[in-house]
Amino acid sequence: MDILTLVQNRHSYRGLYKADPVPREDLTAILTAGLAAPSGCNQQTTRLLAIDEPQLLAKLREVLKKPSLCSAPALICVLTNPREAYPGHCFARQDYAAAIENMLLAIVALGYQSCWYEGYLTNEDQISRQMAQLLKVPPPYELVCVLPVGEAAASPAAPPAKLPFDQRAWFNRLPSQGLVK
Ligand SMILES: Cc1cc2nc3c(=O)[nH]c(=O)nc-3n(C[C@H](O)[C@H](O)[C@H](O)COP(=O)(O)O)c2cc1C
Repeated sequence: MDILTLVQNRHSYRGLYKADPVPREDLTAILTAGLAAPSGCNQQTTRLLAIDEPQLLAKLREVLKKPSLCSAPALICVLTNPREAYPGHCFARQDYAAAIENMLLAIVALGYQSCWYEGYLTNEDQISRQMAQLLKVPPPYELVCVLPVGEAAASPAAPPAKLPFDQRAWFNRLPSQGLVK
């Protein structure tokens, strides 16, 4: 699949996963894609922890609770070190976002599904902190996102519609009627 088709084919998957393990070779390829992402001032502030050990997955599932996440045979935890690249400028969030998109594309390229779970982890239940504790993530690193990885057990739901091209992208001049929110 060429890269432009791949980009269009990536969609969040929130259904159940098959229990089949994801080969280490594939997980390594996905992590390697994440590490290839650009980072502000090349500070490489993102760290990745893939979980495929059944006992550890079982412990994380107690915290994660969501059926989709709990059915995934592998989870990739995204860790960030929110330090400044230079005084007054921290690019750690942009760094990990770029790494996540690279991994989501690699996941789809290899025939798996995933979803960027960040809001769910950092909501008032502080699931990310509980996961970080379980995984012994040392400060100043923070666990900010988890990507389930596995083959879909159900057919993916229709992806949400994106706004049309001409409401979000232009050549040379922004539209005179203003930008749609
Ligand atoms: C920063 C960020 C946080 C997200 N957090 C969650 C989340 O906690 N739970 C979830 O189901 N989806 C989450 N998503 C996925 C978005 O809901 C999804 O990308 C969006 O609805 C567009 O759908 P698509 O990924 O199929 O294009 C998150 C995406 C981003 C970029």
